[in-house]
Amino acid sequence: MLPATERILLGPGPSPVSPRIMRAMAAPVLSHLDPDLVVMLDDVRARLGRVFRLGDGGLCLAISGTGTSGMEAAVANIAHEGTRALVVVTGYFGDRLAQMLGRYGAQVTRVEVEWGRACDPEAVRKALASGRVNLVAVVQAETSTGVLNPVEAIARIAREHDALTLVDAVTSLAAHPLDVAAWDVDVCYSCSQKGLGAPSGMAPIAFGPRALARRVPSRSFSFDLSLLEDYWVRRKYHHTLSSTLLYALREALIAVEEEGLEARWARHRRHHRVLAAGLGAMGLELLPPEPERLWSLNAVCVPEGVDEAAVRRTLLQQFNIEIGAGLGPLAGRIWRVGLMGSGSSSQLVLLFLSALEQALREQGYRMDPGAGTAAAADALASFR
Ligand SMILES: Cc1ncc(COP(=O)(O)O)c(C=O)c1O
Repeated sequence: MLPATERILLGPGPSPVSPRIMRAMAAPVLSHLDPDLVVMLDDVRARLGRVFRLGDGGLCLAISGTGTSGMEAAVANIAHEGTRALVVVTGYFGDRLAQMLGRYGAQVTRVEVEWGRACDPEAVRKALASGRVNLVAVVQAETSTGVLNPVEAIARIAREHDALTLVDAVTSLAAHPLDVAAWDVDVCYSCSQKGLGAPSGMAPIAFGPRALARRVPSRSFSFDLSLLEDYWVRRKYHHTLSSTLLYALREALIAVEEEGLEARWARHRRHHRVLAAGLGAMGLELLPPEPERLWSLNAVCVPEGVDEAAVRRTLLQQFNIEIGAGLGPLAGRIWRVGLMGSGSSSQLVLLFLSALEQALREQGYRMDPGAGTAAAADALASFR
């Protein structure tokens, strides 16, 4: 059965898809080599270049697949046997990146960071000083812990050591500042279903000039950059790209440019702050310390005595709101509340806080009635 109502998607992704993007997907299907479609490929490449801030001499396209395919495409073209990779692991997705690099033959050294904290760039400097490394890999927005890693500083240190920097921007693209060219990031990938606000199924990826010069022969056929470039740039068949998903991605990119990238980052920051103010007034805490918090994904600590799964169930069944559970060592300890794309709105923050209050009350959790929404409304007013 098809869903009867639109779920309010405030989990770690996908984010809500706005009506204009849904409408774009209703356009007639074109074949992957149709002259009207290939023009759109150029348009999407140009728009992606602006969202990543890729600069000159690089290559941008979108992998047919989810964020994990973006990760695999990045790894498959940059790492092979003999690559010495330093991977910053601050949570579940840093670990996935380390595993992926290992599968493609890289010799992986992990910089392990306690879950809930960001990586100190000095830890990367120290690790780079103790051995020759070709590649530093880091997740900018660690979705499992709600932590923002300092990509700019890490990439600068990697560049000082002549190593490439590979960045996972799955939960940060179009939500947090990211400047691939200015920060000397060499490879960066994301997804369509979070900050961009399209459905999942396309994974934007950007290769800077140094990465293109140092790319390796890809062991993967699906993710071979040379073959993908043949299709995206030279119109040679490689796979049957979904025109429907391309329309959605393109419409999402147009919406990003209409809003303005920096205004969009500011919107995500504002609504994160408003949510944090509301949660604070309800006696709830966020897991990471303030300067290390994501705006797109809020890791909320489950208070003592509260059944975290029951709260999620109430939100879903009574309020039609989805939030995420904790992963790995944080299972049962946090909720993951995503405010991404069109989900980053004042209306949804206020709705969520009042629904959460109700769900917590059912668990016997005590707070001043309405304190969360009142504090959020005050915080919102302070931004006006
Ligand atoms: C930081 C990060 N990297 C990679 C992925 C994998 O993306 P997907 O689930 O779209 O394959 C996710 C998914 O949430 C993520 O948050």
